Amino acid sequence: MDAVDHKKVIEMNKEEFGKSLSANDDEILKHLPYLLQDLWELGGRPDIQLDLIKTLDLKDIKILDLGCGKGSSLIRILKHQTGKGVGTDIVEEFIEEAKHKSVEWKIDDRIEFRTEDLVETLKTERNYDVVLYGIDSDILGTIEECFESLKQTLSNGGYIIAETIYPKIETDDSIDSQEEFQRQVQKAGFVLLEEKFWDTEDIRTMNQEYTTKIVKRAQELITKYPQEKIMFEEYINSQVEECKELENDLYCVSVLCQLKS
Ligand SMILES: C[S@@+](CC[C@H](N)C(=O)[O-])C[C@H]1O[C@@H](n2cnc3c(N)ncnc32)[C@H](O)[C@@H]1O
Repeated sequence: MDAVDHKKVIEMNKEEFGKSLSANDDEILKHLPYLLQDLWELGGRPDIQLDLIKTLDLKDIKILDLGCGKGSSLIRILKHQTGKGVGTDIVEEFIEEAKHKSVEWKIDDRIEFRTEDLVETLKTERNYDVVLYGIDSDILGTIEECFESLKQTLSNGGYIIAETIYPKIETDDSIDSQEEFQRQVQKAGFVLLEEKFWDTEDIRTMNQEYTTKIVKRAQELITKYPQEKIMFEEYINSQVEECKELENDLYCVSVLCQLKS
């Protein structure tokens, strides 16, 4: 890491960082790399992102992934697509794993992974054909503000593939409805080209796999730090609750939007 101390940045943005990985307790944050060590994907859907990119028929793509986790999306996409990419994430351990995977997949000469706060990435990266972003915290503000911020990284007519959620029934006004999401995206100067709703059975299978792996690591941590047993159990319970919510109350969606030129 360069001049920026990312542990400090996480400290400053603790709440939004925690939200992005569904962790409500500050103390659990330092254990996340251990708890999530058996997962490559951290909640995103590279398969759907790739399907959406294929519809664009782009050659020599230039792609940016903000909050890239362990690099699964960029690596899988660029394995099928000519071009190059940059991925940034605030967690150093995730970026180390991403670099390792890109070497394993023999694609490291076309991807740069950096440990960086995405707010900083937005200040410097420009002229991308495609930007990937999972809207899983409020770090970039409202949907309109978020798309306004992402816009500056795009070339004319560039694309954003965003992952988001809509409520199935509009009871919780903290999550924008599909209509409100679309309204704000358009207000920020984008055309919404496609929305792919994730299949509920796929979400259930993914949740079961993630939960089994995380529970195993949480049990190891409970053995190592018995005094923190309750915290780890609460983390697991909140994961299970969130999985139920994703399966029953929310639509998970990948949206493809194009910047109006
Ligand atoms: C739900 S995960 C998704 C990761 C990846 N897109 C995937 O699907 O595997 C959200 C990611 O955002 C990262 N993140 C959260 N806040 C961030 C910030 N301020 N700057 C950079 N990355 C951040 C987290 O470390 C985490 O890897």
